[in-house]
Amino acid sequence: MKISHLVFLFVLTLCFFVSWGATSIFDVDDSEDIISCLKSKTNNATSISQLIFTPLNSSFESIWEARVNNFRFIKPSTPKPCVIVTPIDETQIQTTLFCTKKHGYEIRIRSGGHDFEGVSSTAVVPFVMLDIFNMNSIDVDVGNKTAWVQAGARLGEVYYSISQKTNTLYFPAGVCPTVGVGGYMGGGGYGNLVRKYGTAADNILDVRFMDVSGNILDRKSMGEDLFWALRGGGASSFGIVLAWKLGLVPVPEIVTVFSVNRTLEENGTDIFYKYQYVAPRMDRDLLIRVRMSSQFIGNTTKKTIRMSFEGLYLGKNDTLLTLLDKHFPELKLKQENCEEMSMVQSSLVLALQGFTSSTPTEAIANVSAIQRQLSNAKVKLDYIRTPIPKSGLRKIWRKMFANDRSETLIMYTFGGKMEEYSDTAIPYPHRAGVLYQLYKGVSFVDQTSDTTPTSLRRIEWLRSFDMFLEPYVSKNPREAYINYIDLDLGVGRDTYEEASVWGERYWKRENFKKLIRIKAEVDTENFFRHPQSIPVFYYPLVSSS
Ligand SMILES: Cc1cc2nc3c(=O)[nH]c(=O)nc-3n(C[C@H](O)[C@H](O)[C@H](O)COP(=O)(O)OP(=O)(O)OC[C@H]3O[C@@H](n4cnc5c(N)ncnc54)[C@H](O)[C@@H]3O)c2cc1C
Ligand SMILES: *[C@@H]1O[C@H](CO)[C@@H](O)[C@H](O)[C@H]1NC(C)=O
Ligand SMILES: *[C@@H]1O[C@H](CO)[C@@H](O)[C@H](O)[C@H]1NC(C)=O
Ligand SMILES: *[C@@H]1O[C@H](CO)[C@@H](O)[C@H](O)[C@H]1NC(C)=O
Ligand SMILES: *[C@@H]1O[C@H](CO)[C@@H](O)[C@H](O)[C@H]1NC(C)=O
Ligand SMILES: *[C@@H]1O[C@H](CO)[C@@H](O)[C@H](O)[C@H]1NC(C)=O
Ligand SMILES: *[C@@H]1O[C@H](CO)[C@@H](O)[C@H](O)[C@H]1NC(C)=O
Ligand SMILES: *[C@@H]1O[C@H](CO)[C@@H](O)[C@H](O)[C@H]1NC(C)=O
Ligand SMILES: *[C@@H]1O[C@H](CO)[C@@H](O)[C@H](O)[C@H]1NC(C)=O
Repeated sequence: MKISHLVFLFVLTLCFFVSWGATSIFDVDDSEDIISCLKSKTNNATSISQLIFTPLNSSFESIWEARVNNFRFIKPSTPKPCVIVTPIDETQIQTTLFCTKKHGYEIRIRSGGHDFEGVSSTAVVPFVMLDIFNMNSIDVDVGNKTAWVQAGARLGEVYYSISQKTNTLYFPAGVCPTVGVGGYMGGGGYGNLVRKYGTAADNILDVRFMDVSGNILDRKSMGEDLFWALRGGGASSFGIVLAWKLGLVPVPEIVTVFSVNRTLEENGTDIFYKYQYVAPRMDRDLLIRVRMSSQFIGNTTKKTIRMSFEGLYLGKNDTLLTLLDKHFPELKLKQENCEEMSMVQSSLVLALQGFTSSTPTEAIANVSAIQRQLSNAKVKLDYIRTPIPKSGLRKIWRKMFANDRSETLIMYTFGGKMEEYSDTAIPYPHRAGVLYQLYKGVSFVDQTSDTTPTSLRRIEWLRSFDMFLEPYVSKNPREAYINYIDLDLGVGRDTYEEASVWGERYWKRENFKKLIRIKAEVDTENFFRHPQSIPVFYYPLVSSS
């Protein structure tokens, strides 16, 4: 109680100082604070006053917490915004932008709130949080095979809306239905259709976007450079995405989902070793993912690795069985491991929520039906370009045994369509030659916070596991994914050399330099910033090889 009280005072003080500071820096009228600015600049003060929250409003905490997806940030010591604005129309976003700038606050934009480092919900500086969850309309145009989706919509809502109109079109997006389209598509976005259709960003046709001056732009008026940057460069470095226009893709009416589990005692090492060679080269209608954790063998204190091979096949089970029998017989997939269903049902079943094919499809658009605490975790992500030898796999298992079974590894197979894009087509560069993506995470679900001794041990283990994996993962640079943002990679940003430590891992050199150039053009003053946003340097970028 005392602590939260102190933190509360601290936040208010921070917020007070910023208004005071802004007065001197920007020469703002003394009496006008940001709340009155928000009210005076709008054409309907009644409406906007219901959409503004400060720490003095009783609902402030619950509004803030509602979309902090990762429970690890929900604790008293997490710095909260000075003001939360939850706009219902674009003019209110313009007003928020204007008043935030005028009063010298930073801004954080929140769509689905799934950011792995809490970047959308917290900051160590006084900030205004623009939470656009109210702006989530979805307009599916089956005839033109397109959909306009507002940035506050969630992936599950997109899937559900499409499925209400057609079962032969879909959009290639991510696994967790509550991820927001605002963050997800701005970072690239892989999912169960990645081998067939590439990333989500590859399938974006147009955008509605607000720049730092409050102008609303589309692809045509912003030009191809900025449109390029928004699809994988992390949109929050450039401005506010209002809506995306998606190109829908054909899918069969019936798809097949399968799942088989193996342990090390059931030849897991050999099967996984073989997976690395065959799965990335297989027919692109087939996506296999592998989930792994350590567990005890029966009642004993001896550990093993349980591997779940799961997948989606864009066709019927007999064709799938023939395909796997030919190329991957070691998996021993049987008809009873397969189930035929519609595309939207496959998204439910593969959502890692315990849904089955008999769960009503509405559940995918129902935020209350999704277990949020599953992402109470610290995660890191790698790309694998060379199969890991069996000796390496055995070392990896031993390293996993050293943890307390709180870890999860998830491999998503690449190849297929991903081989056809150049690394510079959009900023997302993890393309040809990537065999699979390797997610590593430790969970804190059984802990009261991420700072208990047990949680700290797990984070320590994850960091050492990450170092240990170096010989087996992509190199020069060791690739990382902006949608799995990881501040451990570094936050230096005063010079290109400093920023390249993390920036080249997310985007590779050519793309990172282009993003820096575009950023300097569209947000010269670096208003849209966070610890790993595209930096602005105070002297020109020296071109080095
Ligand atoms: C459980 C879980 C499952 C996931 N599954 C996948 C997956 O299958 N595939 C995949 O590729 N990724 C996946 N991710 C990662 C996910 O893509 C990123 O966390 C993504 O940034 C989340 O977007 P959001 O809108 O929900 O998050 P937010 O926290 O709201 O935003 C994330 C970032 O995007 C910015 N942003 C949000 N909205 C806007 C906007 N309108 N304009 C400009 N910037 C904006 C924020 O400021 C922040 O920097 C998963 C994450 C979780 C937690
Ligand atoms: C202003 O907003 C309120 C609340 O949303 C609404 O009831 C009212 O009709 C609006 N007034 C005008 C003039 O649009
Ligand atoms: C929150 O409090 C401010 C005054 O601090 C008020 O202007 C605003 O209308 C309140 N918000 C809501 C949703 O009641
Ligand atoms: C495509 O969209 C345009 C503009 O919205 C509309 O006029 C046209 O009818 C649509 N075409 C089809 C085939 O639905
Ligand atoms: C396989 O293991 C997963 C946990 O990873 C479990 O949820 C699932 O029920 C298992 N599947 C089968 C077919 O045993
Ligand atoms: C493991 O491999 C052996 C030898 O190839 C084989 O006989 C056995 O059936 C396999 N076990 C499983 C569970 O696949
Ligand atoms: C597990 O241990 C319990 C108690 O020690 C015992 O009763 C049970 O039979 C054991 N189960 C197995 C599968 O070994
Ligand atoms: C698999 O395909 C066969 C042949 O088409 C069909 O009879 C069967 O119902 C399918 N099985 C499942 C689990 O969908
Ligand atoms: C959403 O899910 C919750 C929790 O499972 C449930 O109580 C509610 O009825 C669902 N809502 C709809 C509209 O299906």
